[in-house]
Amino acid sequence: MTATTRDHTLLELIGALIEPAARPDPYPVYARIRDLGPAMLDLPVWETPGAVISSYRECEAVLRDPRMSSQRGRDRRLAELMPPGAPSSVGQRWFLSLDPPDHTRLRRLVSAAFTARRIARLSGRIGELVDGLLDRAAERDRPFDIVEDLAYPLPMTVICETLGVPAADHEQVREWSSRLTRLIDGFGAGPSEESLNGLLALNVYLNELIASRQADPGDDLVSELIAVREGGDSLSHDELVSIVALLLVAGHETTVNLIANGALALLRHPAHFAALRENPALAEAVVEETLRYDPPVHITARVTTEDVELPGVRLRRGATVVLLLAAAHRDPAEAENPDVFDPHRPEIKHLAFGLGPHFCLGAPLARLEARLALTRLTRRLPEPALLQDPPPYRDHVNLRGPLSITVPRPAPP
Ligand code: HEM
Repeated sequence: MTATTRDHTLLELIGALIEPAARPDPYPVYARIRDLGPAMLDLPVWETPGAVISSYRECEAVLRDPRMSSQRGRDRRLAELMPPGAPSSVGQRWFLSLDPPDHTRLRRLVSAAFTARRIARLSGRIGELVDGLLDRAAERDRPFDIVEDLAYPLPMTVICETLGVPAADHEQVREWSSRLTRLIDGFGAGPSEESLNGLLALNVYLNELIASRQADPGDDLVSELIAVREGGDSLSHDELVSIVALLLVAGHETTVNLIANGALALLRHPAHFAALRENPALAEAVVEETLRYDPPVHITARVTTEDVELPGVRLRRGATVVLLLAAAHRDPAEAENPDVFDPHRPEIKHLAFGLGPHFCLGAPLARLEARLALTRLTRRLPEPALLQDPPPYRDHVNLRGPLSITVPRPAPP
């Protein structure tokens, strides 16, 4: 296949991936993209042709490569698209999309408050929330929807309680957040009005929340972030708003998919479902295998800071490198029988939380929530059965996950 034919085929395959029909099972399309090898992609919104990387080894290498920037151009334009009078915090980049030294500084300040100890302390509360959600599902006179009744409210409540967002505001925050996640989905489509409105509304809300905690601190993470001092350095108001927005959105829009994808895989593999019910120690392997087999985040991207030659592709400075993490996880060069869900595999390798300097800061929290939710789910579903398979999916290509998973109601406590 010539380079040009390969690039053309890639464009067709990306088209197939974006189609809603691919949502329940995008993996055959990913396999075909991976078989093409690294290929160039030229989208009208890009200033220079980019590349799509789908093998495990190359995704890993790009994530560790200091010539790859997380600072993507489109963020720069967001502030310009906002109406006059919008809070200046909308122009503050999330540190997810910053490079050193700015990224290093903000990540260090956030890590000083969002510690492993703080997360471990949440274990009791998370267990309590899971039990409460399962109890409520048992009492309803309709089938149990694992997404709406458990996978979504759990991480949403946990991150809101951690940050100190009042319960009365959770629904509203959920709506804004769901709108603004459109900004990080798709292949280079510009920001929609809907996503910009979500970003703006969340910024207005968080400006007020932070101002109120500045005046009257509590024992929540927002108050702790306000108080963080590291070698004389602290977070500015706009930095605080952008950090809290990132934690809020990243804290639940991803974990919902981890819990839902894990539940779905277990329901489709009754032997693993029963094994987890018998032995809660298997939860760790079940969650790691879910992260590999059906990850909550499918795609990330970098931009080259100089001309770069990767195996099979030559890139100019400023080129976008799209990393298909979900394709890399099924790379037969890295895992035996990659298309099989097997929590017992000797080594579970994945890039679901990224790698290198931007490695997910919330990974311990996401893992804790998913382990507790899935273990308790298996105990409360005596006769697990999917009432609709495949389930309907949210139409996100990147933050991909089921819209609902219906099963018979859980047993009473
Ligand atoms: C970064 C995935 C849960 C906060 C990342 C990245 C990935 C990721 C892939 C790196 C992106 C890149 O390098 O381009 C996930 C998945 C989750 C999850 C799959 C759930 C299963 C969470 C939670 C929080 C969180 C619960 C917070 C409460 C963050 C933050 C970053 C990040 C702050 C940016 C880190 C940095 O740039 O230094 N996440 N995440 N994530 N995640 Fe998560």
